[in-house]
Amino acid sequence: MVGVTNKKALSGERKGEITGKIIKISGPVVVASGMRGILMYELVRVSEEGLIGEVIQIKGDNAIIQVYEETTGIKPGSVVRSTGASLSVELGPGIIGGIYDGIQRPLLRIKDASGDFIARGINVRPLDDKKKWHFLPSINKGDKVEGGAIIGSIRETSVVEHRILVPPSVSGVVSSIVKEGDYTIDDVVAVVKNGETGVESEIRLSQKWSVRTSRPIREKRDPSIPLITGMRVIDTFFPIPKGGTAAIPGGFGTGKTVTQQSLAKWSDADIIVYIGCGERGNEMTDVLKTFPSLKDPRSGKPLMERTVIIANTSNMPVAAREASIYTGVTIAEYFRDMGYAVALMADSTSRWAEALREISGRLEELPGEEGYPAYLASRLSQFYERAGRVESLNGKEGSISIIGAVSPPGGDFSEPVTQNTLRVTKVFWALDKNLASRRHFPGINWLESYSLYLDQLEDWFSKNIAEDWNKLREQAMILLQKEENLQEIVQLVGPDALPESERLILEVSKMIREDFLQQNAFHEVDAFCSPEKQYKMLKIILTFYELAGRLLGNVPLEKIAAMKIKTDIARMKEHKNETFDKKYTEIITKMQSEFKSMEE
Ligand SMILES: Nc1ncnc2c1ncn2[C@@H]1O[C@H](COP(=O)(O)OP(=O)(O)OP(=O)(O)O)[C@@H](O)[C@H]1O
Ligand SMILES: [Mg+2]
Repeated sequence: MVGVTNKKALSGERKGEITGKIIKISGPVVVASGMRGILMYELVRVSEEGLIGEVIQIKGDNAIIQVYEETTGIKPGSVVRSTGASLSVELGPGIIGGIYDGIQRPLLRIKDASGDFIARGINVRPLDDKKKWHFLPSINKGDKVEGGAIIGSIRETSVVEHRILVPPSVSGVVSSIVKEGDYTIDDVVAVVKNGETGVESEIRLSQKWSVRTSRPIREKRDPSIPLITGMRVIDTFFPIPKGGTAAIPGGFGTGKTVTQQSLAKWSDADIIVYIGCGERGNEMTDVLKTFPSLKDPRSGKPLMERTVIIANTSNMPVAAREASIYTGVTIAEYFRDMGYAVALMADSTSRWAEALREISGRLEELPGEEGYPAYLASRLSQFYERAGRVESLNGKEGSISIIGAVSPPGGDFSEPVTQNTLRVTKVFWALDKNLASRRHFPGINWLESYSLYLDQLEDWFSKNIAEDWNKLREQAMILLQKEENLQEIVQLVGPDALPESERLILEVSKMIREDFLQQNAFHEVDAFCSPEKQYKMLKIILTFYELAGRLLGNVPLEKIAAMKIKTDIARMKEHKNETFDKKYTEIITKMQSEFKSMEE
């Protein structure tokens, strides 16, 4: 746990340390008196054990503090000390592959130091300060650098080049830069002298950043490049761009975690930040066990070589859970600033909101809807606003896509966390418990879900995949909508009462649902479907619709429904992405000749 020095706290107004006394303890919330001069969001050390706390309200001389560690046994009268720092993360090589708690304490190294439980007041640095990294400088003495500039790089893992950035607040002329060689995160690798102020800043391989403040950028850009996920229902129907935001709400067991993990595994992001706000301890244990053993399908290397995990189980203090999404998104911003596409998953933001609610309750704030604080909406939007496609301070383009799972009690989307999330996110993947119980996976409801990015992404898909991509997706969506209406009639009078043209719609939409939308996340081949294959699969189904339509009236629908080609269509998802081109031609040719033979 480290802090960014709070300049104001250490400037003239602050003479030495502020020490106060605890006057009240309510779960994770502690009130201390005698804290005059303390700053909002300043980190403090609580009690003789030195528990980590953060000032979240100031009332006169009293500071209200949320404590990131278990407070049982702490007594009124105990001391509280200021630190002059704010809650922050340490950014530098070694962060990839890290598994941290909500305030970036390295869980595995803590386990080594103190056993399974995190001992209170323990101080373990987020990054290994003994390890030497091979640093390759890319600037020279005398160069002028601005905040955010890249001064060199380190091959952190086989898939990630860690670029060393000048801290945003530093600029000037490089007065020294080390030679290529091995350095620890604390070694000074460059010194930058500001011509105006004369201040010399030492640049190390690691830097700190306060989690409650977003890292500065040059400008936001329109997100117009899709984050390819390999999930057909997402890429084809409800795509998310790099830099976009999506909510994935769903009741118990509807597929939130499987979807988030598929995205972590398969999406074409450079860096993954996975925040697990575990519903149950064992679900998080599951993540901790499965992730380190997962292979990155693109590189064949362990997925952890481009992943950072923030883990909160339900038995960890709630305040750390409240902080976890800020810790996660700050780490994401750091990699974005290096010029990477980062995808951040939070599973589940409902547990985060519950932490917020619990702390608010302890503060005796006036509760809003369902006991959540009135600021739930603004906190959610502050979090999602940190997503985006940007030009970073060094001119490189980077992005953060945020995908938040929501677990509405009883699967009822009208509750406050779902509603407030949908107000700020632009993609809605609605998980449907009926689909899940019918084992239609992914259980994303195609009639309820939406993506507000369709217009922005249209160009990319028609240029890079196929010109008629959008036409195809619209056609398919219309069929699915018609099916929904026809189903109501079928329920009343049975399918035989429908004209053949409408029964064909039922037949083809069933194909779209079963042979296209359904996708098994655990299938060796089908887990990832390239956009090219998605397009061709849909094209095959819609070609079937077109050819069948021509025969209607001459050939009974029963015969069309019993065609041999349907088996090939049902199996196309199992066919490899790489050779699907050939398969596509094969299926289309076979389909045409089978239809032709029926004409005769
Ligand atoms: N895309 C998928 N492919 C195959 N199976 C799936 C898929 N999505 C979900 N499942 C099945 O549904 C089960 C429940 O999914 P998951 O654990 O993701 O639900 P959840 O919404 O996270 O549940 P909880 O509310 O308990 O966190 C999985 O164990 C798996 O069997
Ligand atoms: Mg889950």
